[in-house]
Amino acid sequence: MKLLVKNIATLAGIDGGGVLKKAGADMAQFNSINNAWMLVENGIISDFDSADNRLGPFDADTTTVDAAGGTVLPSWCDSHTHIVYAGSREQEFVDKINGLSYAEIARRGGGILNSADRLHEMSEGELYEQAMQRVREVIAKGTGAIEIKSGYGLNTQDELKMLRIIARIQESTRLRVMATFLGAHAVGREYAGRQADYVNLVINEMIPAVAAEGLADFVDVFCDKGFFTPEETSRILEAGAKYGMRGKIHGQELAPSGGVEVAVKHHALSVDHLESMTDDDIALLRDADTMPTALPGTSFFLNMPFAPGRKMIDAGLPLTIASDYNPGSTPSGDMKFAISLACIKMRLQPAEALNAATINGAAAMGLSADYGSIAVGKVANFFITRPIPSIDFIPYAYTTPIIERVFLAGQEQ
Ligand code: NIG
Ligand code: FE
Repeated sequence: MKLLVKNIATLAGIDGGGVLKKAGADMAQFNSINNAWMLVENGIISDFDSADNRLGPFDADTTTVDAAGGTVLPSWCDSHTHIVYAGSREQEFVDKINGLSYAEIARRGGGILNSADRLHEMSEGELYEQAMQRVREVIAKGTGAIEIKSGYGLNTQDELKMLRIIARIQESTRLRVMATFLGAHAVGREYAGRQADYVNLVINEMIPAVAAEGLADFVDVFCDKGFFTPEETSRILEAGAKYGMRGKIHGQELAPSGGVEVAVKHHALSVDHLESMTDDDIALLRDADTMPTALPGTSFFLNMPFAPGRKMIDAGLPLTIASDYNPGSTPSGDMKFAISLACIKMRLQPAEALNAATINGAAAMGLSADYGSIAVGKVANFFITRPIPSIDFIPYAYTTPIIERVFLAGQEQ
């Protein structure tokens, strides 16, 4: 099965392979060639070049795709989402407009616990269907690899129910899916006032049960003021590590609460949110193998400060941008909008934001050897835009749909 994409005005996000993430000044390089073609064989990018250099002749079984003068980009790699959830929480949206903060809503028993109640009541089939609607939406918007978290179960059975749905999404779509166990997202209702017991449940019962079914690649903790402490996070990360689950931490969203320190100490793959970063945190991340991840859609929706993305890149750090698609703080999986916000609100250059949403997103899921750029040997996850004047147009035209055709593993979606 060969696929030849021709008439590409700009083939963007290319590299020679072997680039696993971009940091600091390198983030400004989103390499491209003009007037290009790309060849895909059995779902893998096998060649590309400009003009008609080295092109053809091709076998009869080669399908030609006319990019019609559009730009081809690697699919977005969205490394932080919670897209398996029941219903929606627009009432809390109105509460926020009326002056309540995210933390106040959570303290009143709304927020994550509200979603956990709904998820408990919903059948696995209905939950899967609701999640698939969001999956289809993000595929059409250009996402090709995605991390999905549990964390609205908050008891062993419901956490497993969520993770089985995540596994089903991987099986039933061409999206590359990574699964994260987030039992420590909030203290489950049955454990109200008994946080220490709940943490023990996560460690002694949930993690072994998740591992027994092989349902999670990563373990996450909402390490923040009013949720879980760095000490509790440490214990949960150690418990996950015993089963080969690397950490992906929610840290420093609501307050500078030690999330970066604990993530770095445990070699977490990523530490995400970072709206309340300190200079010490930036220094800690400089020599770490933990990928800092900003979620600009969350800052936008909650009307909170944005992560200091410009400062982090100027300090030489790599930076990932992800959507955080979830019912409470970011009911959107639109990566193009997240990229626009990163440019407008965090002062990233378009090229930096595009790297943050592709190769660095793949790195924050441990997938960058196979995803996140147009490189020979990588999985052919890409999309074709309508003709656009330059890649800077992508974040500039911040509500204009630009995607014409989407391909995952070389197959048109
Ligand atoms: O990443 N901050 C913690 N968790 C989610 C929100 C979850 C919710 O409100 O349902 C987040 O923003
Ligand atoms: Fe999140």
